[in-house]
Amino acid sequence: MEFFIDTAIVDEIKEINAWGVLSGVTTNPSLIVASGRDFREVVQEIAGMVGGAISAEVTALDAEGMIREGKEVAAWSEHVVVKLPLTPAGLQACKALTDAGIKTNVTLCFSVPQALLAARAGATYISPFAGRVDDIGWDGIELIRQIKEAYVLGGLETKVLAASIRHPMHVVQSALAGADVATIPYKVFTQMIKHPLTQAGLDGFMKDWAKRAGASSETP
Ligand code: E4P
Repeated sequence: MEFFIDTAIVDEIKEINAWGVLSGVTTNPSLIVASGRDFREVVQEIAGMVGGAISAEVTALDAEGMIREGKEVAAWSEHVVVKLPLTPAGLQACKALTDAGIKTNVTLCFSVPQALLAARAGATYISPFAGRVDDIGWDGIELIRQIKEAYVLGGLETKVLAASIRHPMHVVQSALAGADVATIPYKVFTQMIKHPLTQAGLDGFMKDWAKRAGASSETP
C-alpha cells in the first residue's frame, strides 16, 4: 500500500517527504483554505516537492464546469490528479477527463455502488472516507474491503485510496483490507512512527555506547 499525505500545508509535506515514504498528496477545498495559500501556487509548489500524484479538487458543481476546471488544474503540472465529487456531474466529468487522458480521483465515496459507478466512469482512484463512515456508526474499513473485493472480482483497475484516516490503526486496517493507497494526515504520520520501545532501546544503546573504552563524555 502506498502512502499519500492529506494536507496542503507545505511544511508538513516537506517533513514527511524527507522520510522517503510519500508517493503523493491529496488536497480538498477545505485543506486549501486551511493552508491560507493561493490554489494554483500551492498545488504547483507541492508538485515540485513530491514527484507523485497530487490531487486537486474542482469546485464547480455542474459537469461542464468540472471538465473546464479539471482541464485547467491538470495543466498546472503533470502530477495533478483531478479530484471530482461522487455526483452524476462528477461521474460525467470523470468520463470526459479520462477520455482526454487526465487522471482522476473520485471523492466523497460512502458506498460500494458509488465505487462501482466511479470505476465504470474510468476513475484512476476512488476515495472511500473511512473515518466519516465510522462517524455515523458504520464500518469504514469494511467499506474499503468490499470495494476492493468488488473491483478485483470485476477486473476493475481503479485504485482504492483509503481517505478520512483518523489514526494509525486505520492505516493498518486499510492495508489489510487491500487498499492500494492510504492518504494520511500529518498528525497520524507522527503517531505511526512513535513507539516507546524504540526510544527506550535507542536510549539504552546510546548509554552503553558512551561507556566504551576511549569514549569522550560529549560524544555518544
Ligand atoms: C480525502 O482526500 C479527503 O481530503 C480527506 O481524507 C477527508 O478527511 P476528513 O474526513 O478527515 O476531513
